[in-house]
Amino acid sequence: MLYIGVDLGTSAVKLLLMDEKGEIKKIVSKEYPLFFPHPGWSEQKPEDWFEQTMAGLKELVAECDKSQVAGISFGGQMHGLVILDKEDQVIRPAILWNDGRTGEETDYLNQVIGKDKLSEYTANIAFAGFTAPKLLWVKNKEPENFAKIEKIMLPKDYLAYKLSGVHCTDVSDASGMLLLDVKNRCWSDEMCEICGIRKEQLAQIFESYEVVGTLLPEIAQELGLPGNVKVIAGAGDNAAAAVGTGTVGDGMCNISLGTSGTIFISSRSFCVDSNNALHAFAHADGKYHLMGCMLSAASCNKWWMDDIIGTGDYAAEQAAITKLGENHVFFLPYLMGERSPHNNPNARGTFIGMTMDTTRADMTQAVLEGVAFALRDSFEVARSLGIHIERTKICGGGAKSPLWKKIMANVLGIKVDMIESEEGPGYGGAILAAVGCGEFASVEEAADKLVKVVGTVEPDPELTAKYEERYQQFRQIYPACKELFDKII
Ligand code: XUL
Repeated sequence: MLYIGVDLGTSAVKLLLMDEKGEIKKIVSKEYPLFFPHPGWSEQKPEDWFEQTMAGLKELVAECDKSQVAGISFGGQMHGLVILDKEDQVIRPAILWNDGRTGEETDYLNQVIGKDKLSEYTANIAFAGFTAPKLLWVKNKEPENFAKIEKIMLPKDYLAYKLSGVHCTDVSDASGMLLLDVKNRCWSDEMCEICGIRKEQLAQIFESYEVVGTLLPEIAQELGLPGNVKVIAGAGDNAAAAVGTGTVGDGMCNISLGTSGTIFISSRSFCVDSNNALHAFAHADGKYHLMGCMLSAASCNKWWMDDIIGTGDYAAEQAAITKLGENHVFFLPYLMGERSPHNNPNARGTFIGMTMDTTRADMTQAVLEGVAFALRDSFEVARSLGIHIERTKICGGGAKSPLWKKIMANVLGIKVDMIESEEGPGYGGAILAAVGCGEFASVEEAADKLVKVVGTVEPDPELTAKYEERYQQFRQIYPACKELFDKII
């Protein structure tokens, strides 16, 4: 049988066709625009997602035996607010996970409602990118739109709805809304009241591997697929990526170097970071996870390469890097503000430490290292909770760079395992589809059977020691700039 995984990303939707042995048959990618209507705001049009997904699906299944396609599922960018009216039409562009407009609403939730209460109701506190502060923003700033809301959805759930006609979501993605009682995997009455919404405005909750329905007849016809193709709930992109890298069960770690950068730790039991610096979310394997998320990771490198120095040849730029562990230039990667662990939408990207002999290669290196150091900040929070991490998997666009993987292994001082398929969320989505269709008894079993480690980057003790010194310097830069960031926005 064949299974489709849809990775609804921030720059593109990536679709992947996998067989029951886990072999990837085809990958298709379709881009769509990202809008920054104000500094720090970030929006996309759900209609673009759907249009490009349909175009991608047609291309994906064009040459395969369509009668073999059994299921489709998703890994989707998290936290985005999609609002539909009573005709199921999109009311306004989606406000994305890396949007920083909700400073006031986030402060209201954390300070007036209170972090303790939020943590009690949802296992998390408010971060600017989460969905509930965005709902409050629409309520405060666009009351006419708020009044029209009939359904509140997440990005990939909008796709599932368009394909199946069911208003659904899954526990992992719903965890990032600040509306879910994560421990009990149900909507929180208290949070609905705080946000001024009714429970019926929220989607029906599924486990990530559960079937929500089948393709709508008109969709099946347009794609030339059988009408009984199952639509499986899917997961937030990080939980889906974790499935795709075999980060399931207890104490496993995955790093994703995509537009965002995340460190994801799976856990069989429910756990909360007492300071709420790491997110405590439900996992797509039926259990739980902790996660730190930085808002700009591979996107910092893309910005530096494409927009600033103007080159498409990332490998050539990286080949010129010679000062591993000895760079005096530092880069704070906060181009969209920062989530974990600083929770500060006003934080900004910063180069520091340049001298007249600083080269372009030093600055490129600083960008790669700045992302690694910032991820180390979340890693340190996990350590402070007594979590011992010896090795991690890695996925995302940044994971294609051998140099970046080496920097990561040495900045964190842990082994970095490489997976045969780096297509984290798309591969995870296809695995969830296979589980939903009964090909495997559980997500854990499917990941065990399908995900293959093909190599490991070992940290080098000498380089790790050098990076330790650099990291201790790096971590002093943000506190020194923090007040200034608030003044210069
Ligand atoms: C996770 C997060 C990002 C997005 C990126 O909390 O906000 O990783 O899911 O797509």
